[in-house]
Amino acid sequence: MKTEKKTSVLPERGPVDEKGREILLSLKNVDIRFGKGNSSAKVVKNVSFDIYRGETFSLVGESGSGKTTIGRAIIRVNPCSAGEIQYKGVRISGKINQALERQVIRNIQMVFQDPSASLNERATVDYIVSEGLHNFHLYKDEADRVRKVEHIIEEVGLLPEHLTRYPHEFSGGQRQRIGLARAMVMEPELVIADEPISALDVSIRAQVLNLMKKFQQERGLTYLFIAHDLSIVRFISDRIGVIYKGNIVEIAEAEELFDFPMHPYTRSLISAVPIPDPVLERDKVLLTYDPAIHDYTADQPRLEDIGGGHFVFGNEQELAQYRTLRAKGELPQWRSAESADAENEEIPAKRTGRPGRRGWRMLRRALLALAGILGVCVGLFLIFLLLAVI
Ligand SMILES: Nc1ncnc2c1ncn2[C@@H]1O[C@H](COP(=O)(O)OP(=O)(O)OP(=O)(O)O)[C@@H](O)[C@H]1O
Ligand SMILES: [Mg+2]
Repeated sequence: MKTEKKTSVLPERGPVDEKGREILLSLKNVDIRFGKGNSSAKVVKNVSFDIYRGETFSLVGESGSGKTTIGRAIIRVNPCSAGEIQYKGVRISGKINQALERQVIRNIQMVFQDPSASLNERATVDYIVSEGLHNFHLYKDEADRVRKVEHIIEEVGLLPEHLTRYPHEFSGGQRQRIGLARAMVMEPELVIADEPISALDVSIRAQVLNLMKKFQQERGLTYLFIAHDLSIVRFISDRIGVIYKGNIVEIAEAEELFDFPMHPYTRSLISAVPIPDPVLERDKVLLTYDPAIHDYTADQPRLEDIGGGHFVFGNEQELAQYRTLRAKGELPQWRSAESADAENEEIPAKRTGRPGRRGWRMLRRALLALAGILGVCVGLFLIFLLLAVI
């Protein structure tokens, strides 16, 4: 059997931006609609972002915000109703020729949230992992296929004897390893990992993340990592895009996003990140984002760079404010729909009936004052006693 040439329609390299980074994937003003006519709903709205070769770009947002829809549009399952998706500078959305489509399917692989739902329960692991190799004729002969499959199954931490078994015979973590093997055996350049660890036990999440990191280091892979909370992606991402109801509201490098979150929705997500200290965690303040704080009737919002590749969604006035604050290293004041008073907006994380952080501070001050008064009284008493003795 002949092996298929890896690239013939796509260029070896994508376009390079002004900082010399290769743009592997680019979404340009992408809209995605479901349904027809009056009942249609736009679930992805004017989304634009670039993913650079070798990086981990995370897309984070609450359930239903359109993350999976974007991932599926990249692998050509969901059609775009406006805009386009480019891979190495070549349009891959809409009508494309068959040769290009085959290369897209091969070069961009997806790993899913629920490994039990995404693996064919009636097929052996050998069949599941080999399917892509068959479809794309990626092996010379049977011995070569077996060698490739055994190699990848060992790479993901399983054993060659597992190949004859069925998915239901494995644990959730092992099934996700099979899902990874199925993707990695294709030697992709870009992997879309759609909440790959959300369905797994906390104890094995790190193992799967480490495995993904290993593949990235060894193969120079690029990841689009989809998650619904920021705590998972903080330490694995180079850049993070935050999505709210189909709109990208902020994109920045991971540290920048955590140090200077500008959009209120990003700040609300950050406020929900668990703190590994029980006292701070109990007393932390959760911020609730209310989209009614924005007045977009006259001035429409857009996603703009406020400096250094930090993009925020806002209107003219908001963007000007974000730029000024970022230049000064400050954060915007927290606003609610009713009032712009940040203090009033603080909601205790848990209403336990015990004093909050501010309560403890006041209690400490009162105790210190009491100790001071007592000290003065004791001092005066001693002076009187001394005088009386003399
Ligand atoms: N095939 C479809 N037909 C109609 N509506 C759809 C379809 N797929 C997704 N949607 C809708 O699009 C919106 C975005 O869904 P999507 O699955 O992309 O969200 P998500 O951000 O991945 O959420 P989650 O974190 O729950 O996975 C939702 O309102 C969903 O109901
Ligand atoms: Mg999803």
